Amino acid sequence: MKKLNMGVYGGTGFTGGELCRLLLNHPYVEKIRPTSRDIEPFENIHPNLKHSGLSFVKPKTLEEMAGELDAVFLCLPSGKSMGVAGRFLDKDTKVIDLGSDFRFTSLDTYEAVYGKKHTSPNLSHEAVYGVSEINREKIKKASLIANPGCYVITGLLGLFPVIKEEIINIENIPINAINGMTGADSKPRIDTMQTRVSSNILSYNMEGHRHSSEFEEKISEISGKQAFVNFNAAHGDFTTGIHCVASPLIKSTYKNQINREGLIDLYKRYYGEEFFVRVNDLSKSAKGTSKVYDVYPQMRNVQGTNFCDIGLDYDSSRGIVKIISVADNLVRGSGGSAIQNMNLMFGFDETAGLKLYSAP
Ligand SMILES: NC(=O)c1ccc[n+]([C@@H]2O[C@H](COP(=O)([O-])OP(=O)(O)OC[C@H]3O[C@@H](n4cnc5c(N)ncnc54)[C@H](OP(=O)(O)O)[C@@H]3O)[C@@H](O)[C@H]2O)c1
Repeated sequence: MKKLNMGVYGGTGFTGGELCRLLLNHPYVEKIRPTSRDIEPFENIHPNLKHSGLSFVKPKTLEEMAGELDAVFLCLPSGKSMGVAGRFLDKDTKVIDLGSDFRFTSLDTYEAVYGKKHTSPNLSHEAVYGVSEINREKIKKASLIANPGCYVITGLLGLFPVIKEEIINIENIPINAINGMTGADSKPRIDTMQTRVSSNILSYNMEGHRHSSEFEEKISEISGKQAFVNFNAAHGDFTTGIHCVASPLIKSTYKNQINREGLIDLYKRYYGEEFFVRVNDLSKSAKGTSKVYDVYPQMRNVQGTNFCDIGLDYDSSRGIVKIISVADNLVRGSGGSAIQNMNLMFGFDETAGLKLYSAP
């Protein structure tokens, strides 16, 4: 099998660093070229990757190398990828964008949400939305992948079966999620200092998080009907991981026909063959008001991995489905999904380089 030569555009950031870590373990990747505008020793920025042998190149140098690269991951701030992707695609280098520039089918929605004009509308129409479990066949044929937002992939994998089966009310889906501090990008600022974050939870962008619109567009595309999402995001005092709870109302016709076991069976039907989606099917031993924890997925079990763990319950007196999904924002929420997509694009086993389990 030919080994690949990969670029990581934006190699100093959180997602770029995590991609380098994962690519170093990939059996079919030979060379990794991460970029930095201020060249300095790689291990100063990513001390966890000391002795990896990696070093930075300037962004311009990476662009000049485009013809030699098999693929490039764009790990750039929002709005930067649309000016860069074409330079690689023109040289037949596949592009996987971890940012938001190519995620929206509707350019009007993109421009309204991100407040900027899209400068590469043609590429945007070409891009395939990169949730492997949902868009596998399209991803295999794609040259440009728009990797989903980290909250969105975690929440969407949780919601996908009940949306497809049309058993929930999609006109108002509450989704509450807490993300690790690496979700807040790597620029130092006073309000994300350890003294402010420690033992704390920071809500943000309650006026309309940009991922609300991404959720709505993708749920609408899956269901064929307009979705409305009430999404609430926060950062918590941990490094990586997303804990996401979606609690949609069941459609009234299904109110007395559903229970936790039925939901678990449904999810096992959808995800039984998926290596990276694990459905928690532990039965409840405790009764009444005793607290039970292990029947719901826990973030700790997916940190550092590409798994998305899903747990389910049903509040029968209120007709509310409870979907808890957890994933690592830097692996399943960005770099891991990106490599899963890369594996599909190059015809490798989808799990290549990604069979990692969490520490205890
Ligand atoms: N963090 C997450 O949990 C997460 C999850 C999913 C998706 N994402 C998305 O992934 C993208 C990267 O996120 P991140 O958290 O890794 O951000 P980050 O830590 O701020 O890193 C940004 C990277 O972009 C580079 N960069 C910035 N402006 C540039 C320019 N004009 N030209 C060339 N390089 C430039 C920086 O390199 P220099 O050192 O050269 O400045 C840095 O390596 C964002 O679009 C984000 O929304 C993030």
